[in-house]
Amino acid sequence: MAEPCDLSVIIPTFNEEENIAAIIDAVDGVLSQNGIHDEILVVDDDSKDRTIPIVREIAGRQENVRLIVRREDHGLSQSVVEGFRSARSDILQVIDADFSHPPDLIPLFYEAIRGGADIAVGSRYTKGGDIEAWPLKRRIISLGATAFGRILFPEITDPVSGFFAVRRQVVDGAPLAPRGYKILMEVLGKGRWRTFVEIPFVFKDREEGASKLRAGTVIDYLRQCGGIVRFSVTRRTGSVWTEWNKVVRFGLVGLSGIFVNMGLLYALTEIAGLYYLVSAAIAIELSIVNNFVLNDVWTFRSIENLKFERKFSRFGSFQAVSMGGLAINMAVLYLLVDIAGAYYLVANLAGILIAFAWNYAINRHYTWVRG
Ligand code: GDD
Ligand code: MN
Repeated sequence: MAEPCDLSVIIPTFNEEENIAAIIDAVDGVLSQNGIHDEILVVDDDSKDRTIPIVREIAGRQENVRLIVRREDHGLSQSVVEGFRSARSDILQVIDADFSHPPDLIPLFYEAIRGGADIAVGSRYTKGGDIEAWPLKRRIISLGATAFGRILFPEITDPVSGFFAVRRQVVDGAPLAPRGYKILMEVLGKGRWRTFVEIPFVFKDREEGASKLRAGTVIDYLRQCGGIVRFSVTRRTGSVWTEWNKVVRFGLVGLSGIFVNMGLLYALTEIAGLYYLVSAAIAIELSIVNNFVLNDVWTFRSIENLKFERKFSRFGSFQAVSMGGLAINMAVLYLLVDIAGAYYLVANLAGILIAFAWNYAINRHYTWVRG
């Protein structure tokens, strides 16, 4: 049995003869420079090129390198899950073999987990992250996939990243579906985690070999998203469930705001005798205040580190977003009635729904954030 280690680095491979020796070398070099005892697990899907003999040879002389060759159930996610299972340490790092993910950053992931984060996500889409030399078509596909994932995990800017680290307890016992390309989504959707850190990185396209992205990948991806939603709805746990809880609460708060608005409009006009447009302006503003207070103490209560001192700045942001929502509602109403000839009550319903989506998404991203 090898000596205990701090970090298990999992490298999934399929036909990586041009890269594998160099990536093992790079990973090992960075970690030993930083005094981190690592093991490197190459999980290969029975490559047809020289990947297997190359890794065998390295593993023969380097004690901390291991090779797992899989002969059935071919797949990237499956390989990573197998790596999780066979890893010896409590911190698990996943990295591509093709130098798309800079190995120099691994110590940052390691420190993030040691510092208390359950997951460290390498992100191309957070400040400081980027993608180098990707053709427009691939950028668009990737952005589309990422946008979809961000509906499920609004706090994570790059939920489809293949560069991440997790604490073992997050994935231990989690029913990760052994299929698809986006293992991080499975981990986020089904693993037990609370805290995360994002680490910006610049994704470099592979210089050697070819990407294995196939046509079926998109369908796999949609099925995977479906599976994660099903999991969270049936088990009522996981981060997707928590998120949709917030959406429902936000909706209920919005409903309460309609009652506040209508009640005040009536009372101010009929009882206080104000001109109805003046009453309406006051009613709108007070319903915004109502919604803010309820969302702040109820809907988003579970967000960590919401500071009391920042209540006013949250309110300012909510106010601005609400005005935007109002404008969107009116614009949709106008377009559907005057241009498309729809019935105004139906058109208004569409306007409300679109404004709701806007209000939720923007507030979730900018108003109620940690810290
Ligand atoms: N074991 C195994 N089985 N490994 C595989 C398989 C497979 O079926 N397919 C690909 N790999 C390995 C490759 O050898 C490489 O190390 C890594 O997984 C990524 O494969 P690429 O083919 O280079 O993927 P990509 O560049 O298209 O996709 C990257 O970007 C995605 C985000 O857009 C990867 O990093 C993905 O993990 C990431 O989600
Ligand atoms: Mn790649």
